[in-house]
Amino acid sequence: MRRRGEETKKTDDRIEALDRKLSESGIRIRDSDQRKVLDEVFDEVTLLALYKLANKKVITAVGGSISTGKEANVFAAEHGEGEDCVIKIYRIRTGNFNAMSDYILGDPRFSNIRKTKKEIIFAWTKKEYSNLSRAQEAGLPVPEPIAFDRNILIMGFLGEDGVPYPQLRLDPPDDPEAAYTECLDLITRLYQKARLVHGDLSEYNILSGGGRLWLIDMGQAVTPDHPSAHRFLFRDIRNINRYFGNRCTIHDEHEILRGIVGEDFFTP
Ligand SMILES: Nc1ncnc2c1ncn2[C@@H]1O[C@H](COP(=O)(O)OP(=O)(O)OP(=O)(O)O)[C@@H](O)[C@H]1O
Ligand SMILES: [Mg+2]
Repeated sequence: MRRRGEETKKTDDRIEALDRKLSESGIRIRDSDQRKVLDEVFDEVTLLALYKLANKKVITAVGGSISTGKEANVFAAEHGEGEDCVIKIYRIRTGNFNAMSDYILGDPRFSNIRKTKKEIIFAWTKKEYSNLSRAQEAGLPVPEPIAFDRNILIMGFLGEDGVPYPQLRLDPPDDPEAAYTECLDLITRLYQKARLVHGDLSEYNILSGGGRLWLIDMGQAVTPDHPSAHRFLFRDIRNINRYFGNRCTIHDEHEILRGIVGEDFFTP
């Protein structure tokens, strides 16, 4: 039997080798503090995926951390000719992935994936990429999907001069009535044009900047044929009504739901 110390050393060696490959392929880690942050999230699988993306020149630099969430870390990065982008890395070791299973297992697009933790996280990453593509094709304001590999998603940066747009909760609207109408319009177009229900919509997953609102964090979004689609849609509407309830006049949530799903309500 191999001793644990030896195994750890072997993994360390492999990660060091991957690190070397990363810098050989031209990817810059901007500073050593940043290196430390990355070490905490980057396991071997992630480094490998990152190495592939760097090698294919999808990313050319990794910058500072933008956010550390329950399941994912978001970093600023560069791609192409030094354009800003964002890397979202779902954590394999420490991510809270139980909630992911519920969404993914009911989604007909992902019905035949293996159900190990890694497979679910990879499928989730792919799902966020395809949800963003679908939303973008339907003309919704979402980050541009650029690439994905395993647990890593590369997308367009929403912000100005390197500063990300704030979440709606941190930048309450000057004209709440207009912002409320804009939110309902986004939910409606997402359902009717992109055929998606966001599923985790709130003032946390809406960014405000450049004179408009943006939808982000689409990993959990489902198509209308998901068995819980209407329940998720109703919850999204409720969250938006809760946020705007003490800021402007809001509409009845059942009426909003009926207005959005229309005849879908009566299809068997
Ligand atoms: N494309 C982007 N451009 C600018 N900032 C972004 C972008 N995507 C995410 N962010 C920032 O990172 C934060 C976290 O991103 P996101 O909501 O996608 O993941 P999360 O909430 O951490 O996911 P989880 O549900 O796994 O915890 C956002 O609230 C936003 O501030
Ligand atoms: Mg979020």
